[in-house]
Amino acid sequence: MKRLGVNVDHVATLRQARMSSYPSVVRAALLSESAGCQGITVHLREDRRHIQNKDLYSLKNVVSTKLNLEMAMVQEIREIALDVLPDQVTFVPEKRQELTTERGLDLKELKAFEDFLDPFFEKNIEISLFIDPEKEQIDFASKMKVSRIELHTGFFAEAIDPEIKKQELEKLYFASKYGNSLGLKVDAGHGLNYQNIKDVVNIPDIEDFNIGHSIISYAVFVGLEQAVKEMLSLLGESQ
Ligand code: PXP
Repeated sequence: MKRLGVNVDHVATLRQARMSSYPSVVRAALLSESAGCQGITVHLREDRRHIQNKDLYSLKNVVSTKLNLEMAMVQEIREIALDVLPDQVTFVPEKRQELTTERGLDLKELKAFEDFLDPFFEKNIEISLFIDPEKEQIDFASKMKVSRIELHTGFFAEAIDPEIKKQELEKLYFASKYGNSLGLKVDAGHGLNYQNIKDVVNIPDIEDFNIGHSIISYAVFVGLEQAVKEMLSLLGESQ
């Protein structure tokens, strides 16, 4: 069975919309875990549009599965991450104006930043790089000695033309297989929902799926535990 990391950023989005004290991100994480998910993912953005520093510290105290922190390669967030010590960090590109992460890291441009990762290696924090499903990016990731990559599924999820969707799906098959062959653990995420998960769940080389927006949206109607359970049952349907 594939593993599910629930991204609870959008629980914080709802809270920040009114600058209220609810809904609780911690409660969302605990409910997701009691529903059976295998990890909790949050993105501490530089503009703090949803997750706040204190959320991260609170989650560190309660998450008993895996706490995966998505972050940009910037010094300020690195200091916080090294203070909190999540189980895993996933580096993502970040732009102020974007609604959400738009694409993967361009590792070719980041070669010079390899030193940035050193303290994470020293503290035994697992490192993942969020990249587009491209061979060149996987080659760079493998040279950077990280243990995981997360393939950006957004292009697949957003494709409307069936031919383009098929091509994007094939890229995910190829990239995950190639990543595995280089010794990388391969995860995937972005834009996945209760419909399109059926296409990617059978990709054998993908281990974890990080899913947020669709689960939190569905939870509005059925409750978070039920929303997580239904996604887990779809993940369990891999052959
Ligand atoms: N993985 C990464 C690296 C992301 O940046 C996001 C969005 O925060 C997700 C997964 C989850 O995407 P979605 O909210 O579309 O499920």
